[in-house]
Amino acid sequence: MTTVLGVEGEERNDFTKKESRQIRNRSIRLLGSLLRPLRTRVVLTIVVVVVSTGFQVAGPALIAYGIDTGLPRMLKQDWLPLGFAVAGYLAAGIAGAILISWYTVLTARISQAILIDLRKRVFLHTQKLSLEFHESYTSGRIIARQTSDLDAIRELLDSGINQLIQGGLYMVFIAVALFSLDFWSGVVLFASLVPLGFLLRWFQVRSQKAFRSARTTSARLIVHFVETMTGIRAVKAFRKEKRNEVEFGELTENYRVANLRTIRLFGVLDPGLVLIGNVTLGVVLLVGGLRVADGGLQIGVLLAALLYTRSFFAPAQDMAMFYNSYQSAAAALEKISGVLEERPSVADPTRPIDLWAAKGALSFSGVEFAYTEDRVILPHFDLEIPAGETIALVGSTGAGKSTLAKLISRFYDPSDGVVALDGIDLRNLHPKDLRRAIVMVTQEAYLFSGSVGDNIALGNPDASIDEIIAAAKAVGAHEFIMSLPDGYDTDVNKRGGRVSAGQRQLISFARAFLADPVVLILDEATASLDIPSERLVQEGLLTLLADRTAIIIAHRLSTVAIADRVLVMEHGRIVEDGTPRDLIAGTGRFAKLHAAWRESLV
Ligand SMILES: Nc1ncnc2c1ncn2[C@@H]1O[C@H](COP(=O)(O)OP(=O)(O)O)[C@@H](O)[C@H]1O
Ligand SMILES: [Mg+2]
Repeated sequence: MTTVLGVEGEERNDFTKKESRQIRNRSIRLLGSLLRPLRTRVVLTIVVVVVSTGFQVAGPALIAYGIDTGLPRMLKQDWLPLGFAVAGYLAAGIAGAILISWYTVLTARISQAILIDLRKRVFLHTQKLSLEFHESYTSGRIIARQTSDLDAIRELLDSGINQLIQGGLYMVFIAVALFSLDFWSGVVLFASLVPLGFLLRWFQVRSQKAFRSARTTSARLIVHFVETMTGIRAVKAFRKEKRNEVEFGELTENYRVANLRTIRLFGVLDPGLVLIGNVTLGVVLLVGGLRVADGGLQIGVLLAALLYTRSFFAPAQDMAMFYNSYQSAAAALEKISGVLEERPSVADPTRPIDLWAAKGALSFSGVEFAYTEDRVILPHFDLEIPAGETIALVGSTGAGKSTLAKLISRFYDPSDGVVALDGIDLRNLHPKDLRRAIVMVTQEAYLFSGSVGDNIALGNPDASIDEIIAAAKAVGAHEFIMSLPDGYDTDVNKRGGRVSAGQRQLISFARAFLADPVVLILDEATASLDIPSERLVQEGLLTLLADRTAIIIAHRLSTVAIADRVLVMEHGRIVEDGTPRDLIAGTGRFAKLHAAWRESLV
């Protein structure tokens, strides 16, 4: 993995120099790949903004010309220069306005294009990443990538960069115009850059800290909110509301304080800018006025110099803000690029082997597996499951049963050894073939928004409604579905469409039946069914399991009766392997389990 994942949605800040450089390069690469398709538009936009700024800055110079040349000539009945100045002023104003509006549209198009591209990339990529990533990267953080991070980038693109380019160009153009019009006013303006620089630098240093803490407090707020809402059942069950209230109260208070700190900074910056602007204006007026009195400066030029000086400070506040929006956007881009550079740990094969009619024989040879380096779950695992066999896998909690199931479904790859279907390493199968051949049904039967029928059809999107109904009938789900308000068309998210955990499980059985895989794994899939429903499913199960390889992981031993073979697993190893009859008759672990179970029934 390329990113270093922090705890609980907090991002790390303590990167080494080398890591920081890598992260920066990663962001720049991403930015480059986003801008490359738009480069013609970007160049056009730059040309438009340069020309429009030129037009805007021409105004005061034209006024100076009108006053100093146009007025005296008009007194001599020559209207031409003044007419030229007025017409030029109007034309420059209109052209500047038209170009600015064009510029606004162009930049909005560019920023929308970038954002849509980025949004899609983040979604498609996070969806593609392996379970391993999703288990460590909390949903709160993924949500933050899609919301606040993209927002930060949007803000930079929509206003930040605009202001920087517009404001920066404006200031440069004004400085150039002022110097060429009147050198000494230019010098005064230049001198004002010293206090301006100090003020902006002060603001930048302070605000960087303040805005960062505003960002992290807001991120913590979101993470806490998302965790509370996704875990709302546990929150209610354990009466965590009061504690959450306190925690949330603290987080909002921190957020408030952090925001207040940023606002205070503006309380210094804004008046500071006004002060510097006014003092500079006063000095320009003083220096210029004395020279006008001497006859060394024309009055029109002085007026233009004053207009330029006044406009010069207008964009300064926006420019001061640029650094912050730049910083949050850069941080956002860093995090997003981190997600985008994650590679699925379960990679698709470059040259998949075709799986023609799969039979469903499974084999583990020399498989070793660990989720994390420090703890091996399957130390050394060998197992052959012939096609068509029904296996019951039992063992205590934490024995590694689900891990085995996840390896067969290739949610993970073994650290060593090979898991194979019909002799082909799963890593060489096309994901499409693999998903069609092997289906796992777990306890958490998830229903997506849509109708019950749609949810069953997930197993095979091409299925007709008759096939869907047949599948539901086969697993014993038809009756309860018909009792829903709109039958198969009932929306699972609407009132009346809400189904119980057991019913959800029946729907997921129907889904699996419709998918018709050669290998079916049920991982405690009947756990939320009551005994009568389970009995019902059991009949359906016989249909569901016929003609395919099946692995049933069950804690209720009643399910075991329909198995051809029982595997007892402990600490990542198979400790017993035989027919149910043989194992029950023996003296091993399974015989004891079975005896205890029989007793509990009486
Ligand atoms: N995603 C995971 N990351 C790290 N360890 C895990 C993960 N899932 C399971 N484990 C560990 O692997 C062991 C086997 O778990 P599992 O296969 O789920 O057991 P079973 O299904 O038999 O109850 C347990 O000790 C569990 O703590
Ligand atoms: Mg399990």
